[in-house]
Amino acid sequence: MGLQSAIIDWLDARFELTDAVDAEVYRRVPNYAAATYRYLGGVAVFLVTIEFITGFLLGLYYVPDGAGNPAPAYASVVFIQQAAYLGWLIRGIHFWGANLLIAVAFLHMTFVFWNGGYRPPRELNWMVGVLVFLIIVLFSFTGSLLPWDANSYLARAREISIISGSGVLPDGVSGFIRYAVQGGPVVGPTTLLRFFMAHVFLLPGLMAVLLYVHFRLVRKQGPAEPG
Ligand code: HEM
Repeated sequence: MGLQSAIIDWLDARFELTDAVDAEVYRRVPNYAAATYRYLGGVAVFLVTIEFITGFLLGLYYVPDGAGNPAPAYASVVFIQQAAYLGWLIRGIHFWGANLLIAVAFLHMTFVFWNGGYRPPRELNWMVGVLVFLIIVLFSFTGSLLPWDANSYLARAREISIISGSGVLPDGVSGFIRYAVQGGPVVGPTTLLRFFMAHVFLLPGLMAVLLYVHFRLVRKQGPAEPG
């Protein structure tokens, strides 16, 4: 106890830690901020944290060998699943956490919509939320190629064809995007490395920035009144 209060006193003297914690813990929220509206965003925060932690642990053993030889990627996932200590559990939590996050983020979005949380002045935060949702979907899309087994390879190759052949964009533009995403004319080792870099570097970075803005806006604007 002596050591604990010494550390807290030391921090308090430098940046008022106790005041900051008290302001959060005893912050009053209006009665209309019902549990159903407020909790789902918090559950999503919890799941994002779980995904970051388990993703980091998987990254300790995953080998995204894109240098013309993607076989080690598959072998490293087999190693994680069968040999690494609790690897099967970490991989399972990462997989099911990702699926749960899609469901929870969708429910959060539905409740916010139902409550009119998209109306002025919260339109910007709604738009930020839509981008966050898009990023969650892209996390799943890029992550599901990484095991590099027949299922993940063939399913992603088919999805890329469907998206790029949908005719929404002019052929030249969608062809260019497809080439850039695949890193060549077909899904291959370069695609694996691109998806890996997006999954562990680009998307987490974008997600962190967007969630920071999301939380700052939530705090500044407060909960929307129902109706
Ligand atoms: C990883 C994904 C997400 C996380 C971690 C997250 C987190 C949060 C948290 C903690 C809150 C405050 C508490 C609450 O209202 O539940 C919140 C509010 C809000 N979120 Fe999200 N959110 C996510 C995705 C989304 C999505 C997909 C949308 C909509 C497209 C969205 C739109 C909003 C809006 C408009 C508010 C303010 C609601 C109000 O004041 O009533 N969020 N979010």
